[in-house]
Amino acid sequence: CNHIAFYRRQKLLHPGKSLYQALLDSVTLCNDSVKLQIINEKNKVPLLVEIYAIEGNIFRLKINEVSPLKSRYEVPDVLIKEPTTQRLSIAQKEAGILVLTCASEDRKLHITANPFQIELESKGETVLSVNTNGLLYFEHLQPPPQNRCEISISHSAVFVMLLKINQQEFRSGALGASAPQEAPVVGLKPRDPPDPAGQKPRAPPPHHRAEAPSPSRPGPSSIGLDFSLHGCEHVYGIPEHAETLLLKNTSDDDAYRLFNLDVYGHKIHDKMGIYGSVPFLLAHKPNRTSGIFWLNSSETLVEINTKAIVKLIFGRERQRVVPQTDVRWMSESGIIDVFLLMGPNPFDIFKQYAQLTGTQALPPLFSLGYHQCRWNYEDEQDVKTVDAGFDEHDIPYDVIWLDIEHTEGKRYFTWDKKKFQHPKRMQELLTRKKRKLVVIIDPHIKVDPMYTLYSQAKKKGYFVKNRTGQDFEGICWPGSSSYLDFTNPDVREWYADQFAFKSYKGSTDILFVWNDMNEPSVFKAAELTMQRDAVHHGNWEHREVHNLYGFYQQMATAEGLIKRSGGQKRPFVLTRSFFAGSQKYGAVWTGDNVAEWSYLKISIPMLLTISIAGISFCGADVGGFIGDPEPELLVRWYQAGAYQPFFRGHANIESKRREPWLFGDENTRIIREAIRERYTLLPYLYSLFYRAHTTAEPVMRPLWVEFPKEQETFGVEDEYMLGK
Ligand code: GLC
Repeated sequence: CNHIAFYRRQKLLHPGKSLYQALLDSVTLCNDSVKLQIINEKNKVPLLVEIYAIEGNIFRLKINEVSPLKSRYEVPDVLIKEPTTQRLSIAQKEAGILVLTCASEDRKLHITANPFQIELESKGETVLSVNTNGLLYFEHLQPPPQNRCEISISHSAVFVMLLKINQQEFRSGALGASAPQEAPVVGLKPRDPPDPAGQKPRAPPPHHRAEAPSPSRPGPSSIGLDFSLHGCEHVYGIPEHAETLLLKNTSDDDAYRLFNLDVYGHKIHDKMGIYGSVPFLLAHKPNRTSGIFWLNSSETLVEINTKAIVKLIFGRERQRVVPQTDVRWMSESGIIDVFLLMGPNPFDIFKQYAQLTGTQALPPLFSLGYHQCRWNYEDEQDVKTVDAGFDEHDIPYDVIWLDIEHTEGKRYFTWDKKKFQHPKRMQELLTRKKRKLVVIIDPHIKVDPMYTLYSQAKKKGYFVKNRTGQDFEGICWPGSSSYLDFTNPDVREWYADQFAFKSYKGSTDILFVWNDMNEPSVFKAAELTMQRDAVHHGNWEHREVHNLYGFYQQMATAEGLIKRSGGQKRPFVLTRSFFAGSQKYGAVWTGDNVAEWSYLKISIPMLLTISIAGISFCGADVGGFIGDPEPELLVRWYQAGAYQPFFRGHANIESKRREPWLFGDENTRIIREAIRERYTLLPYLYSLFYRAHTTAEPVMRPLWVEFPKEQETFGVEDEYMLGK
């Protein structure tokens, strides 16, 4: 974390009395909210606080500059609608205290003026408080200074240095956590020599480009706030990390990082960001579950600190020690927009979160069956042979998958002319067996004026731009590529139309889609992703929308599949990168895991965490993507995967073939039994998904969700429930 500039800046603020004071005279009661100003006692600059009571036991708190130099980014398209608010009224206003009540429900807000704090009360119980540790932090946008030329020179010098680091070093994790975490390090002067080993760029110095205002960017804009969850020592959520179900204390260690990245063979028990981010945290104690949804799509860090608090009860004679978990959120940019979900039970929390971000899309039944994937099934004959293998060995399956090699030189929406000459014929064969095909469609587009998709998008100005206004170009599977700007609604509409049967030659109605590399992955770039000063629709920098990129690609793809069926059929779209609300568009998987027992084990807490963060349709590559599983590991992985929501065998291009019948009769028999067990349970699973879709109940759920009063279940992550 110390390599992240905004983290270092925010960490200069220590827990203690907040610098902010509420100006209670500025309180305005509006129909849908209460507004007031708070002021920083050092710089005397005010901030606007808006408080909303939302129907269904939710509070929303927004904090923004009173009049920012330019608008700050507010995450669009994630909330399914403008939440229905309830009127707040003033119950008490005296001596630096303001108490607000919500008419229809028994809940109250206590606002203390100096230091500025808010306590949320439900049915007489203080559930959560805001800014208790005084860590509210807000960087105001600044006008550009006159002379910044040295900074841009340094930027290009370091960028060249980063280009020298080849993809393999990044992919093998050689850079690890020491890679610069914000845009290429610009504080380095051109005279600073690269690392003698020629590998790792040095840790970013304290001065970072983001800290200097420039004409395109009015300086740093990070934000932060702390929350205290009273009586709670068990907190969950904030996927995606290869970590335990119970969130760990971060006091001696790095914070949980939410920043979507392509991390090949990601480490286990690591708080580094991987492919997806859902900034939603759940807290649980026997009589209440609560939640914090931090709606921000820039890089975000979450610190967790559980401690014991001594409380006095009925005067001084009796004391009680109660746990409390403090959670500090820090984001690189945007505004503070946070939803506080008051429960009280776990299923209320799931409903409240779904009321904001939507429920799980109901999957088509076939997609709950078993999926057979590999990078790659080589050609039409290979597909035919593998398909027949399932029949020969009497193993049920529903979907066969084609990875990037099926295309003409990684030009998505095309077919390799030699290996897949007759894609329709191949699909007809599958159709006869009532089976489906999934093909991969990544967001990077090969720079090739002869490739229609590229030339059209180029002409229409549909690619993400670099800071000089040219189309951003980065390296990915096809070599030099540009990246569609899915944040633009026109791009999404155009992209959705590419799935029409008349546009996507060789596709039929049994073809469904897999969106990969959509963090987005950019080889040979810092942390293997897009530079933060790339420019999106509406002139927003990439840093603002980074964690939303995959969300938008899956949204557009799902829309395309719905459209091509004339609105008749449910789509199936698997995505690697995701954000809050991705559940509305399909399934996610945990990316490039390794064929080792520890990865099988961690798949359970990872999937449980993703599930309680709203995304029920999730799975991990069965067998482990990287390497060659020993037969027992493969068999055990099938047995585990058969009970997980998304069930797909997948393998890297370098791994040996591992179709279920390749490990001897006995192993084939056990795998067959596991997959059949899955099929036996299909009606039950389908019903669970119906409930996830209609009432937001996670399909796969931790024990504590079903046994909320049983303390011994709170940390269990090697058992789970499928439904009740
Ligand atoms: C990425 C994906 C993996 C896929 C490969 C090739 O590594 O995570 O599943 O097979 O790219 O497309």
